[in-house]
Amino acid sequence: MYTLSAVTKTYRKRRQSIEALRGVDLDVATGEWLVIQGRTGGGKSTLLQILGGLDRPTTGTVTFDGRDLTGLPESAVTRIRATSIGFVFQAFNLIPTLTAAENVEAALVPLGMTGERRRTRVAEALDSVGLADRARHVPSELSGGQQQRVGIARALVKQPKVLLADEPTGNLDEDTRDEIVSLMHQLWRDLHLTLVLVTHDAAIAERAPRVAEIRNGRLTIRQDSPTKLSAADPPEREAGHQHREHEAAREFQPLERPAADGGL
Ligand SMILES: Nc1ncnc2c1ncn2[C@@H]1O[C@H](COP(=O)(O)OP(=O)(O)OP(=O)(O)O)[C@@H](O)[C@H]1O
Ligand SMILES: [Mg+2]
Repeated sequence: MYTLSAVTKTYRKRRQSIEALRGVDLDVATGEWLVIQGRTGGGKSTLLQILGGLDRPTTGTVTFDGRDLTGLPESAVTRIRATSIGFVFQAFNLIPTLTAAENVEAALVPLGMTGERRRTRVAEALDSVGLADRARHVPSELSGGQQQRVGIARALVKQPKVLLADEPTGNLDEDTRDEIVSLMHQLWRDLHLTLVLVTHDAAIAERAPRVAEIRNGRLTIRQDSPTKLSAADPPEREAGHQHREHEAAREFQPLERPAADGGL
């Protein structure tokens, strides 16, 4: 899905320059679940913004789905972002005056769909995160976990190929964090998404198939288990032990929760 070669990002502020990324090479396979960890200021959000086409590298190349994002005009990158890439943020970033449904619908406006099609998609997206009965609530009438579910529905309503999440559970308590991670796992598996998840949370990273760490702008793969096989590959195409590994990846539960937690 992604190939990054020698990506650097230098921010210049007055006379100061900050090297946020110092030569990142990274492949992200289609259907992969990749966790990115690292200390504060290491460059995680910078990398995610570059993956999302929200920012461009200073040098190096970023290939997304066979196209070099660094060579495309802004309008083409905006189009890719609107159709193929969903973002989930730590602070939810919902518009406080809009209802859950309107917040989700806002992601479809750039796609030029009819109102009726938009509303069907919004209802499906809210349903997929278990919030069909909260569509008319504004964010202040929702819990933190519910607001993040709206955030996830807003990311998914455009039916993206990729979901990029920057500390999506950073503002939530532990139980809610577990619910949100389980939900993201379920959606990743069911929708055959490619998921890149930035988290400080060791409990989430421990169970991830592949974990990268960024320190001081340099990325290393810290954990790369054989279960990282793509959720998009149909299992029947695989044979022998590979098949079992694939099943293990599909069954991978980021955090196990007792069944009594209300479910998803
Ligand atoms: N727009 C910007 N202008 C100037 N410097 C920036 C900008 N964005 C980030 N930086 C700097 O780049 C470095 C990397 O920042 P980044 O936000 O990517 O870190 P991070 O790993 O996401 O940290 P955190 O875990 O705290 O979110 C930091 O030193 C930061 O101060
Ligand atoms: Mg960050």
